[in-house]
Amino acid sequence: MNEIAVGILGTGKYVPERRLTNQDLERMVETNDEWIVTRTGIRERRIAAQEQATSDLAYEASVQALKSAGISAEELDLIIVATITPDMFFPSTACLLQEKLGAKKAAAFDLSAACSGFIYGLANATGFIKMGMYRHVLVVGAECLSRITDYTDRNTSILFGDGAGAVILGEVPEGRGFKSFKLGADGSGGELLKISGGGSRLPSTEQSVSERRHYIEMNGRDVFKFAVRVMGSAAEEALASAGYEKSDIDLLVPHQANIRIIQSALERLDLSEDKAMINLDRYGNVSAASIPLALAEAVEEGRVKEGDCLVLVGFGGGLTWGASVLVW
Ligand code: ACO
Repeated sequence: MNEIAVGILGTGKYVPERRLTNQDLERMVETNDEWIVTRTGIRERRIAAQEQATSDLAYEASVQALKSAGISAEELDLIIVATITPDMFFPSTACLLQEKLGAKKAAAFDLSAACSGFIYGLANATGFIKMGMYRHVLVVGAECLSRITDYTDRNTSILFGDGAGAVILGEVPEGRGFKSFKLGADGSGGELLKISGGGSRLPSTEQSVSERRHYIEMNGRDVFKFAVRVMGSAAEEALASAGYEKSDIDLLVPHQANIRIIQSALERLDLSEDKAMINLDRYGNVSAASIPLALAEAVEEGRVKEGDCLVLVGFGGGLTWGASVLVW
């Protein structure tokens, strides 16, 4: 029996209008534009309006993805939203999105794998389609990280932003689509990047809030070392399992956390910088939204042609990582 080839039928993205620039941050914490640009590559991020939550951002990106795939919301069988900033604990952001889209036939769930969440979501969706259970799956990465960022902490406030990216997965012609997935996790590094308050371990109290436990806490240096190691190895493993070589890569679509992390991945993969889609200068780190947002922009800019070999690769809290080889 021939296996179904599964790939991307359409892409979409959304970023809020408001910009938070390095100059704005200079007025909020002790930092400066030069430090932020040289240490991270980030110049500005987008911040959701007060009335916007993650499902609103996800909705805008999803509408665009449906349009670009040429299918209606009623044709969706499943919605997966990768996020660490759901609108609320439950119902899931995927259920809220299902209702907004009117995707009446679709099952829906959220997926929590931090910045690797979108690649985990793609792997899930591909499995469902390959086994014949679903035809069209909407996979969204959407975040309002501004809501969990401590704007008195210069270590983290310079990094994060808000946005969403979405794709529709379905059957594609033979020879194209996803060729491999490599997913990984190392819970021993969970302490390096976390929000400790507001869950069942430490429910929100006046004390937990006054101790700022509802914000991201991060050991940046150790996360950096982990990221440099895992971005290269995950991409290499995904290539090997697909039977592809580094030289086959037409475009790397990496998680947009830090330009130095992306540069080290490029070095390891023997690629020049023009082979990577980079937009972190404009959006910062948008966690699960970062890879689909970069992918949607690459498509928009005409940087992806039929038959191109793309490598998507990311890492994040958990710790988690994921990589995939995709023939467009
Ligand atoms: N402005 C000015 N100085 C700063 C700032 C700032 N915003 N932040 C830190 N510094 C200072 C530090 O205090 C330190 O000073 P010291 O030497 O006197 O102690 C100096 O700059 C160097 O600090 P480092 O932490 O060593 O700086 P580094 O080069 O590692 O850059 C950074 C820090 C940007 C956070 C980097 O470590 C990084 O990008 N790490 C990965 C983070 C990441 O990707 N996190 C997201 C993961 S994805 C997810 O799941 C959400």
